[in-house]
Amino acid sequence: MSQKHTFILGIESSCDDTSAAVLKNETILSNIIATQDIHKMYGGVVPELASRAHMQNIVPVVDQAIKLAGITLDQIDAIAFTKGPGLLGSLVVGTSFAKSFSLALDIPMIDVNHMHGHVLAHFIDDEGKDKPQFPFLCLTVSGGHTQIVLVKDYLKMEVIGTTIDDAAGEAFDKSAKILGFEYPGGPLIDKYAQLGDANKFEFSKPRIDGYNFSFSGLKTSILYFIQKQQKLNPTFIEDNLADICASIQKAIIDILFIKLIKASSELNIKQIAIAGGVSANSGLRTELIRVGEELNWKTFIPKFEFCTDNAGMIAITGKFMFDKKLFADQSISASARLKIV
Ligand code: KG4
Ligand code: ZN
Repeated sequence: MSQKHTFILGIESSCDDTSAAVLKNETILSNIIATQDIHKMYGGVVPELASRAHMQNIVPVVDQAIKLAGITLDQIDAIAFTKGPGLLGSLVVGTSFAKSFSLALDIPMIDVNHMHGHVLAHFIDDEGKDKPQFPFLCLTVSGGHTQIVLVKDYLKMEVIGTTIDDAAGEAFDKSAKILGFEYPGGPLIDKYAQLGDANKFEFSKPRIDGYNFSFSGLKTSILYFIQKQQKLNPTFIEDNLADICASIQKAIIDILFIKLIKASSELNIKQIAIAGGVSANSGLRTELIRVGEELNWKTFIPKFEFCTDNAGMIAITGKFMFDKKLFADQSISASARLKIV
């Protein structure tokens, strides 16, 4: 007896990555990501340039994803796209593409919350790896967000802690900028940190209520510290690069873990996941494993390709919405400030 499979085409265009993925049931067949290098010249994402690049990339990226998946258009059951949150001009490109695609093929479209996508990336099939069980906590850390999410079910989530200023990814990128790295500098801090002593320099930690975070004070204390040291030694950064990076990375990870441990202990939840671009950070991944072993957590770390923005995570979220027939109609519009519900 042949079983009916579900094929979902996922589209992600919330920031500066144009991505398309094909999902068969809960398995990724293809996940193409076109990163926009143009922003490096400007030290951050320029929204107008991002939407233009999405316009140029979206058709070839979708084409490649479908070819690589080895499927034909008539096999696709639905198209899932990122409705928000993100940059409006970028989101509009994915949303408009999804509307046209849905009309042309006469298939349903599914509007996905990008933050649900980061969390649900954990449910993409990965050989031999367990998936989290509900309820679990997910530390979602990216360039735009820093949240502790209480995940009660696939589409039932509550943000119990969030940043009151900068996101963790911004803390990495802004610190990297102070050190002279180009955008996004998070991965470079990670790279140099691996060679350095994380206890060499200490930065002040914020005191914030509940499960919330703050990173703007850290950025200021790093800036003042570097300026002071450079007065004494103009080549201070070059001379101490690895130790500075390791110390900054440790400070950011410490701020995150103080609240993650507090939430786990107070809510008595020991299934702990990480998600979002910053979950690609090697120090964060190692710390999750270390703390997890100490506190008897079951920990979940996504594959690298599903940490930073990608359409695979949008497709898997779309699959869970498809199963519940949660479809959007042609009147749907992108939403830059979409919240998790
Ligand atoms: O999830 P993401 O791709 O986009 C947003 O939704 O924001 O996250 C991008 C962020 C950037 O701030 C980038 O510097 C950071 O993730 N990031 C890292 C690493 N890889 C990406 N930060 C630290 N270490 C990394 N290895
Ligand atoms: Zn993201």
